[in-house]
Amino acid sequence: MEHLIDTRSFTIDEIEDLYLLAYKYKSGEYDRTLANKMIITIFFENSTRTRSSFEIAAKNLGANVVSLDIATSSSNKGETLYDTAANLDAMHPDAIIVRHKNAGVPSLLSKYVNCPILNAGDGAYAHPTQALLDMFTIREFLGDDLKGKKIAMVGDIKNSRVANSNIELLSRFGLDITLVAPPHFLPPHTTLKTSHDIKEVISDMDIVMSLRTQTERHTTQIYASLKDYGSDFCITKKLVADRDIILLHPGPVHRNIDIDDEMLADVRSKVLNQVSNGVFIRMAVLEMLINS
Ligand code: NCD
Repeated sequence: MEHLIDTRSFTIDEIEDLYLLAYKYKSGEYDRTLANKMIITIFFENSTRTRSSFEIAAKNLGANVVSLDIATSSSNKGETLYDTAANLDAMHPDAIIVRHKNAGVPSLLSKYVNCPILNAGDGAYAHPTQALLDMFTIREFLGDDLKGKKIAMVGDIKNSRVANSNIELLSRFGLDITLVAPPHFLPPHTTLKTSHDIKEVISDMDIVMSLRTQTERHTTQIYASLKDYGSDFCITKKLVADRDIILLHPGPVHRNIDIDDEMLADVRSKVLNQVSNGVFIRMAVLEMLINS
């Protein structure tokens, strides 16, 4: 049984196969290959785009989707995660998509169920479909061979599962990564290049990936206000000027803190392309894990 727990769950060859499938789906070539399959989504943490993206992906391929409403589910009544998993499994789903505020939950669940588990984000640990769709979007604009392409990841790297998954995936495909953040947002023992000043590094970059300040994971307030953070790290039109870069962000964007209005509307911003590509990537992941 194959699961998608983090980006390491897939080899480079599997990722290339996944992208071929996603390209095919993007060109409109797909049918109901998941008809009669039942997929459960269980989101213990808020989500707008990831959850709807998975649901649309599943429905595009003809699957039935049951979305468990956590506010009314039994985990609120003190049921252990193990029992929740055992009960879901007893309904014989073909896949379970899970998001949880604690790192490690998808991996734990995968030990108790008889269907693929797809991690839709766990704590600050991993968000594999996001990284897969991010790299797919980068390839769409910069070509398939990304070796040596330079990317700046800007923001709350330490608390970001998106950064974590992208660091693993993009390093494996040979990208040259620079982490750009204030000292307290950098992972403590990173071996990657780091900078505290986006202005100093932006001229070298092919790609800028802005990340949201993960205020829900901070135990103490670090910046006096998000506005202060934004004045140092916001990706503005003025900063980018006429540079030949593409700009990514996984959403939700803190407007004028992560990216300013003008830059978000600029053609070099690929934020909505990421959202569109996310559906095709999730279709391909579901097809691969359920039907092969
Ligand atoms: C991200 C997440 O939830 O990890 N959003 C997403 O899935 N598109 C990033 C974030 O919340 O900042």
